[in-house]
Amino acid sequence: MDILRTQNLKVYFKQQGKAIKAVDGVDVFLKEGLIVSLAGESGCGKSTLAKTILGFNKPYAGKVYFKGVDITLKKNEPVIRKNIRIVFQNPYLSFDPRYTVFAALYEALTVFKKLSKSEGRGLVVKALNEVELNEDALDRYPHELSGGQLQRVCIARALINNPSLVILDEPTSSLDATTAYKIIKLLKELRDSRAMTFLFISHNLKLLHKISDFCFIMYYGKIVEYGPKDILYANPLHPYTKLLFDSADYKIKNILQAQELDYYGCVFKGNCQRKTAACDNPPSKLEAEPGHAVFCFNVDSR
Ligand SMILES: Nc1ncnc2c1ncn2[C@@H]1O[C@H](COP(=O)(O)OP(=O)(O)OP(=O)(O)O)[C@@H](O)[C@H]1O
Ligand SMILES: [Mg+2]
Repeated sequence: MDILRTQNLKVYFKQQGKAIKAVDGVDVFLKEGLIVSLAGESGCGKSTLAKTILGFNKPYAGKVYFKGVDITLKKNEPVIRKNIRIVFQNPYLSFDPRYTVFAALYEALTVFKKLSKSEGRGLVVKALNEVELNEDALDRYPHELSGGQLQRVCIARALINNPSLVILDEPTSSLDATTAYKIIKLLKELRDSRAMTFLFISHNLKLLHKISDFCFIMYYGKIVEYGPKDILYANPLHPYTKLLFDSADYKIKNILQAQELDYYGCVFKGNCQRKTAACDNPPSKLEAEPGHAVFCFNVDSR
């Protein structure tokens, strides 16, 4: 079942009098109990999509459904608060420096239920244990923890009320590789033990290969390809996905600035080696294999 689905979601911003189509007609769907990744270069709209799902941005058009409930409607905001949490890239920015670990987690815990500090303590320690931290962390302030430890506290805070969906926006990019892989291991364990769903946003294709079950590739406000991880990595079809996956270092390069703002037709045509006259029209979805779809007119058939 899809726990979350967006339908033709559009989020536009004005910058210097021009409209930025940060998210432009996006349909994504997250299957319950999977780690779904969203990859694409800087500025392509990943964080905007995440923030819009959480209701921080109001869409210009389109809908977001959580278990079939339209959460773009104001009256359904409590559904978001109860079920969806986010972890941001920089743990120091998302943590109030005046709060101890206990104070922050206790505050999160008591949003939905009344608990005394002593009742809350046990649950806070349990949440910390889950991210491989212990009671020693309770009375510490953010500056007394390493980046990796504080990010684990942020994950514990996101998980403490047992949400159904956790969005992680570049959660490991400020961490060293060992800590990043520990966090990945933890998320996989949570997916398996609690059947939690994760939307994992990252630039790092190697990391996404390790963590995800399903991937969406985004370019300039649009999803250009999606599919189960193993299938997508073995057989990338969109010229943009191919470009990403063929690069020796597996790093996402920034080619967005070469794109005109007022493009028409395919969003990638300005950079595409395979461009034909057809690309002046918006590409429709081609289901290449079961569950694997690409938005391109010029895909090689296998
Ligand atoms: N609140 C805002 N007001 C105006 N423009 C915005 C706003 N938020 C995002 N944008 C613009 O929307 C586009 C997409 O930004 P977004 O932050 O979603 O990209 P991203 O894919 O998350 O990039 P990164 O990988 O660097 O985090 C960018 O051009 C950005 O400048
Ligand atoms: Mg971002």
